[in-house]
Parts: sequence; C-alpha cells; structure tokens
Amino acid sequence: MARVLSCIQPTGPVHLGNYLGALVNWVSGQNRNDVFHGIVDLHALTVTDKPGVIGDQTLQLAAVLFAVGLDPKVATVFVQSHIPAHSQLGWIMECTVSYGELSRMTQFKDKQSKREAEFVSAGLFTYPALQAADILLYDAEEVPVGDDQKQHIEITRDIAMRFNHRFGETFVIPKAVTPPVGARVMDLQDPTSKMSKSTESDAGCVYLLDSPEAIMKKFKRAVTDSDNEVIYDREKKPGVSNLLDILSASTGTAPQALAGQYSQYGKLKSDCGEAVVSILQPIQARYTNLISDPSQLHEMLSVGAIRAEAIAQKTLQRAQQAIGMTPRR
Ligand code: TRP
Repeated sequence: MARVLSCIQPTGPVHLGNYLGALVNWVSGQNRNDVFHGIVDLHALTVTDKPGVIGDQTLQLAAVLFAVGLDPKVATVFVQSHIPAHSQLGWIMECTVSYGELSRMTQFKDKQSKREAEFVSAGLFTYPALQAADILLYDAEEVPVGDDQKQHIEITRDIAMRFNHRFGETFVIPKAVTPPVGARVMDLQDPTSKMSKSTESDAGCVYLLDSPEAIMKKFKRAVTDSDNEVIYDREKKPGVSNLLDILSASTGTAPQALAGQYSQYGKLKSDCGEAVVSILQPIQARYTNLISDPSQLHEMLSVGAIRAEAIAQKTLQRAQQAIGMTPRR
C-alpha cells in the first residue's frame, strides 16, 4: 500500500469537474492505498479577506468529501489548520527554498496577474513551501496531481532533497503521479476551458449542490455547435465531446459508443443532465444530513486529525532534530 496524499482548498462550492475529475478517484483510491486528504484552509487563506468565510467553507467541503464516499475509518481526512505542524514545517520549508525558485512558479505568476488590483499576499508567493510541508509531513510517496500542480511537486522534491543533503536523511522524496484518468470536464459555455468556479457567470459550471432544475437548465443551454452531428472529437467538437465525456463518466459507457446512440444534440443534453442529476442526488441527500449535524461532522474530522497529527508531529520532530534545534525541556 502506497502512502498517497492529495489536498483540496476550501475556496468555494465543489463542481462537477472537481467531482468527476478528482474526487471519484479519491473515493476509489481509499481502498487501494493509505490515503491522506487535507482540506487546506491555510492555503485558502492566501486569498481570503472576509471574516467567517473560511470556516464555513471548510465544514461544507468536509461534508462534501464524506458525502461523496470518503470513509473516515479508512481515509484520513483532516483540516490543515488543525495540525500546527503544517505551519511549523512550512516555515522550515520557506527557509529551504530560494526566492528565485519561488519566483519561477507559473501558478504564482498566473495568480498574481489575475489579482491585478487585488491584494497579493506574501503567502501567495510562499505557498509552495507550505505545500511542500503538507506533502513531506506524511512521508507521502505519491501525490496524484493534474498538470497545473506538477511544478509544485517538483519544487517539493527539490526542497526535500536539499534538506536531506544539508541536514541528513529526513524526508521521503515524493513523486507526482498521474491520477487514474478521471473525466476532464470542461465549461458548458466555453468547452475549451476547464470547468471552474472562477468564470464570471456560472451557467457553464455545474455545482455538486445545484438543484435538479438548475442542472437540467445548464445542460440544456450547453454550447455545442451548429452542424448537429454527434461525433466524439475533442478538437473539432469540444462542446459535444464534453457532453459525451460527462455522460460517459456518469454511466460508465465509452464516449465513442455513446456518440453512436445519438442523432440530436437536444436529446444528448437532456440525457446528460438526467444522468448527472441521478448521480448527484444521493450525494446531495448525504450532504444535507451531514451539514445539518455539525457535531457529527466535527467528530469525523477529529478522527482524521488525531491520525494525521500523530504522523505529522513525528516528522516535524525528525526535521527539527536533524537541523539540531534546541528542544524545549
Ligand atoms: N496547491 C493545490 C491546489 O490548488 C492544493 C494543495 C495544497 C495540495 N497542498 C497540497 C495538493 C498537497 C496536493 C498535495 O490545488
């Protein structure tokens, strides 16, 4: 069993792309590997400036993770800020990475330019150091990530190797693994970009907690093209292919095979909407149960925190000892 870690930021509602692209794999992975899943609220803090938001989003995300099927008895699901070792090792990592390395992170450059007039926190810049701490604290061997996160895993490896070289063998060197092919869900209004909650209107983004009516409406209005032929071709027919991919992920039939069953976009859209509604309904029912009973939710998170903390604390001590910091007596 490999030790596998993946984390998610509590920055807003979870959408279908997050679910079909990643969370589905988290759920199936819990029985194959020793999995750790952090809700990384400290990372979300890099772009948070309103009181009361982050805690709610953290609990909502926890409810979603349990609702989609993560089992606290099997998977270690924890909130990053509940484990102080993240912040503590995070600082040590900041001192092990260089300014130049952080300056080369494409995600920072991206986020910085998108925030134009907004506040760009130093945390946004040192973010990869905290991420390195997340990974190294758990001796994670594998970190399943999409392309956008590969650079963060590379820098984590560099930091870990540098630390081991300076202070002696301390950290397991993790590797990025390509997650089992989850569906690559694109925006329903702009099928050439990934479904995401950051686009201006949410007409192209289906949220996990959208009502059945809202879901059907979004699918019916999905952008396709004018020639009305149902063919699976991501390049030439991104809109139609996206619908076929979503339908495929929801039903288990290959998109090419599904294409042959349709002669009209209208029917494809409504079948796709219905398939999504039917996979989301049981998740929504479990979510409603969980979110209405916060003490149960806190209890589930505390199970994860206890397990996570025991491991994280040991790794932190190992690092402090390797450096030779004076222990408190
Ligand atoms: N940077 C990741 C993201 O946006 C979130 C993250 C933080 C993460 N720490 C991690 C992912 C550790 C994997 C492992 O999406």
